[in-house]
Amino acid sequence: MGVLKDTGQIEYSRGLEGVIAALSSISAIDGTQGKLIYRGIPIEALAKYSTYEETSYLLLYGELPTKENLEKFEREMRELRNLPEKVEECLKELPPDPHPMDILKVAVAHAALYDPDRQRACREGVMRKVIRIIAQIPTIIAYYHRTRSGKEVVPPDPELGHAANFLYMLHGKRPDEEEAKIFDVALILHAEHGLNASTFAAMVTASTLSDINSAIVSAIGALKGPLHGGANERVLKMLDEIGSADKAEEYVHNALKEKRRIMGFGHRVYKTYDPRARILKEYAEYLSNKYNDRKYIEIGEKIEEIMIRELGKKGIFPNVDFYSGIVYHFLGIPRDLFTPVFAMARSVGWAAHVCEYTQNNRIFRPRAYYIGPEYVEYNPIEQRR
Ligand code: ACO
Repeated sequence: MGVLKDTGQIEYSRGLEGVIAALSSISAIDGTQGKLIYRGIPIEALAKYSTYEETSYLLLYGELPTKENLEKFEREMRELRNLPEKVEECLKELPPDPHPMDILKVAVAHAALYDPDRQRACREGVMRKVIRIIAQIPTIIAYYHRTRSGKEVVPPDPELGHAANFLYMLHGKRPDEEEAKIFDVALILHAEHGLNASTFAAMVTASTLSDINSAIVSAIGALKGPLHGGANERVLKMLDEIGSADKAEEYVHNALKEKRRIMGFGHRVYKTYDPRARILKEYAEYLSNKYNDRKYIEIGEKIEEIMIRELGKKGIFPNVDFYSGIVYHFLGIPRDLFTPVFAMARSVGWAAHVCEYTQNNRIFRPRAYYIGPEYVEYNPIEQRR
């Protein structure tokens, strides 16, 4: 019999912490300084000067586009927003109560069946599929939401950019420039973040030489979980549960005593303030003042103060999910769409990593360290109790 148990020195990293699983030039995180760059450009500069479309181009193609290339990319994104008729019909038939992340998973898989580039494995074909997925996800989310709310669907407006068009399809009216800009920044901040769980899920699927659509569906499934993208909607639920800033201290103390996690805090890589949360906090503050409704921001800031005081020494700080919900709330985005909106933004990061990794592909196949018994005799069913 061969060796069933590992002998000698083994390296085991729970949750793959610190394991380098790929080479990448897409983004980098400095978890101690709280810095994030996309293709070398600081996230703060992209938030200030770029657009989601331009940032997507940067992530996918490795450099900022020329004016001409950006126009071509934007045009392509706008042209590919419409859903296949069958998918539209299906969205109308789906039950109104599943979590919209489940709807997104189903609809992205469904749309792939009608993708005219489905059979094209060349780089151009894959890029076309990628742009189509990025362009269609907002339409899926908005269509489903309008349908489940008993409202007429609003077709995409080719005059509007990616962020503004989503708000338009969701609400049935064009957002003002400021709202569109704030939402655009939120999308930029969520567009990419290295080998997080959902991106890694996409890469694992793609590494078997499956297709890009299957990889994105895997990623959507991984993003849904409350330890990842699903945290943002739970943050607002928590703020509602707390009710007012003066109750935050008691809530956090009880939660920590009962070993419950405070959603929107902590990160595998950041051991300091997440730079994306810093920008989103400014917008949350701005919108709370603009609408003269400071309830959520005041509770949020109080929780932040307590958490940093109690757990800052452990490296627990607000992450991207903590303030995004307050921003989305003021943009009129329903709570259960927060995570689908995250998926809408992150789809480009997923695709960029899949394209990069599969250029020099090797199937992902880690091992588990076997800790079970080495030999157990088979016991016939009649003799088992
Ligand atoms: N609240 C309270 N304590 C926390 C939190 C939190 N949010 N996050 C981590 N801790 C504590 C843990 O209890 C643990 O303490 P211990 O060492 O005394 O046991 C320590 O910090 C380390 O926690 P791990 O779970 O080992 O950290 P890990 O890197 O595995 O997990 C994660 C990171 C999942 C993000 C975690 O911080 C968490 O659960 N946060 C809440 C959910 C959340 O906000 N997720 C969104 C993350 S950002 C994103 O995915 C977009």
